[in-house]
Amino acid sequence: MKDRRSRTRRRLGAIAVALLVVLLGACAREAPQDSLWPAGTVAERVGGLWTLVFGLAVVVFVVVEGLLIYAIVRFRRRRRAEAEEAPRQVHGNTRLEVAWTIAPALLLLFVAVPTVAEIFNLSGEPDDALHVNVTAHQFWWEYTYEQGGEELVTANELHIPVGQPVMLTLESDDVIHSFWVPRLAGKQDVVPGRQNTLWLDANEPGTYRGQCAEFCGAGHAYMRFRVIASEPGDFEQWLEEQAQDAAEPTEAEAVEGQRVFMEAPCVGCHTIQGTDAEGVGGPNLTHIGSRQTVGAGLLELNEENLRRWITDAPSVKPQGSPAMPTAEEMGLSEEEVDQIVAYLLSLRREAVE
Ligand code: CUA
Repeated sequence: MKDRRSRTRRRLGAIAVALLVVLLGACAREAPQDSLWPAGTVAERVGGLWTLVFGLAVVVFVVVEGLLIYAIVRFRRRRRAEAEEAPRQVHGNTRLEVAWTIAPALLLLFVAVPTVAEIFNLSGEPDDALHVNVTAHQFWWEYTYEQGGEELVTANELHIPVGQPVMLTLESDDVIHSFWVPRLAGKQDVVPGRQNTLWLDANEPGTYRGQCAEFCGAGHAYMRFRVIASEPGDFEQWLEEQAQDAAEPTEAEAVEGQRVFMEAPCVGCHTIQGTDAEGVGGPNLTHIGSRQTVGAGLLELNEENLRRWITDAPSVKPQGSPAMPTAEEMGLSEEEVDQIVAYLLSLRREAVE
């Protein structure tokens, strides 16, 4: 008897430790997608609501569970004799029934006032917003800026100026996606045939991770992106650089890579502004050399990863349609892949003076 009880206790202890480990495993300092660590106006205001509701929920939890535990302990069956004196029954007590119907209703009403007010506050368009069009594709993101009456198209890395609200117009090229940068704002669905909007801003320069938050196919988990917030001056400079045509390659390998690229199926899907590559369907590669990542935020952009991506993209990330084919399917030799890598890495603009 005693043995069994201590075994049960040990088992319960082990389960508690395992649960605690799982819970603490979710903790990370400065986690890239931590919605409890807001870095923008919208995220902070939504975070304030969360704190209020969470606080109330904790109070409700403690009161309800406290009463439950009290009842379990107080009225547990001890001895046969005692069991016969049943506790006082309150079933059908009108006053109690009314009380626990009205109390939650009042609580919900109390929570609704600031929540509804915040929904209206955040739904409008802030003054002096920068406008950016966001198009979701399976499985990557496209951003279109207006710069001097011209359209500037880039992919996966959204650049914004610090301290200025950015108004995003969200459209989908295929299925339903959801745009989510946990540290900057809430989620907004991206629905085919609709234009949804979302505004956000960042308080300080930095890179904020984003993620598609609506299951959209096999590559959903890999549909990542980054928001790169920089000082307004740096942002203006970035815009000016990005608005230019692609850099002309100078190194021999890169020059050869450009020739190979223009003759390969690459041009069917990718645009490189200022060249004959004018394909749409895949990310615009005009200044890909100045990006941080390749494959929608999946791999750091460097020679090795770019080679891996071009050689066999489907092995890195499940593909949507139209898919990025393998080098073999495109009829590219290893040497040609290396040349294309050199060319793409050369596609970067130096600062405009
Ligand atoms: Cu796009 Cu999930």
